Amino acid sequence: MDKVLVTGGAGYIGSHACKALRAAGFEPVTYDNLITGWEDAVQFGPFERGDLLDRARLDQVFATHAPVAVMHFAALSQVGESMQKPGLYWQNNVEGSRNLIEAAVDAGCRNFVFSSTCATYGDQDGVVLDEDSVQLPINAYGASKRAIEDMLRDFGAAYGLRHVIFRYFNVAGGDPDGEIGEFHRPETHLIPLMLDAIDGKRDALTIFGTDYDTPDGTCIRDYVHVCDLVDAHVLGLKWLIDGRESRVFNLGTGSGFSVREVIEHSRAVTNKAVPYTEGPRRPGDCTKLVSGSTRAEAELGWTPTRSTLDQMIADAWRWHQTGHYDK
Ligand code: UFG
Repeated sequence: MDKVLVTGGAGYIGSHACKALRAAGFEPVTYDNLITGWEDAVQFGPFERGDLLDRARLDQVFATHAPVAVMHFAALSQVGESMQKPGLYWQNNVEGSRNLIEAAVDAGCRNFVFSSTCATYGDQDGVVLDEDSVQLPINAYGASKRAIEDMLRDFGAAYGLRHVIFRYFNVAGGDPDGEIGEFHRPETHLIPLMLDAIDGKRDALTIFGTDYDTPDGTCIRDYVHVCDLVDAHVLGLKWLIDGRESRVFNLGTGSGFSVREVIEHSRAVTNKAVPYTEGPRRPGDCTKLVSGSTRAEAELGWTPTRSTLDQMIADAWRWHQTGHYDK
């Protein structure tokens, strides 16, 4: 069975990717430092604990497993935190990725799938965001991911490292079987915070900003189901294994929902009131991020099947009620 090195495989998206890889006939080898990941999420292949900044450990893991490809999820990913601690993002995300990319090249592993973000586009009012849009990040998180994209292009040109870059919009939902799901500590994401507020596990949700230039004054995001998202990664991996060229793909649905609309859908799906208050803007937040591309569908044959907002909330709610949040 071909092995794939999955950095961040103990995290929310990485663990779902491991499950999808296993189902597709690959053996996912998780590489994770467990700073934001959870060992009990590593259920679908071997676990190698390690840090991206530890080059010797990375070399050892490449030598042990000889993976055919890398899927690189491990990153710090909070927009707000990145504004307060930019150095952490440049060190962990950019410097850590350089270590990983160099280790892959030195080990002769030339297929690389990278988890990037629509946050690299920044706040471009009225612009259709497709893969050719200019990247103008307004937060350190987005800037760190754009830098890694540039690094991949340079290493591609110099060493033939072929790569697929996925620019995610807002990932939500969880495994329909309930084996894994979204769990961050601290939690900063809208849907899990809202579910916590609904069942009284935390205080009311605060809406960050009600004076944006949108129909209801709150930010608009394009939500995509984590299972659909990782399906695209398996297709991207096969694209590389088939010898296709390096390529960038947006992963979103093209439908935007405001924070108030997400609240309304959560109320309808759970049949419970969402306690919320209105607060100031969160630094670094873009007004509107919605994908304007169908390249992944057209070229990879990606067909999202669970990415309606109600399905994502329902899957997140089911996971929420398993009690993993209460650990
Ligand atoms: N929001 C609130 N209150 C909260 C939390 C969030 O109003 O308590 C709002 C945010 O201001 C934003 C929206 O809900 O408008 C979504 O916020 P999230 O924190 O859930 O997600 P972000 O859009 O900030 O960031 C997420 C990922 C990033 C990724 C980005 C792409 O964390 O890694 O989606 O949009 F880059």
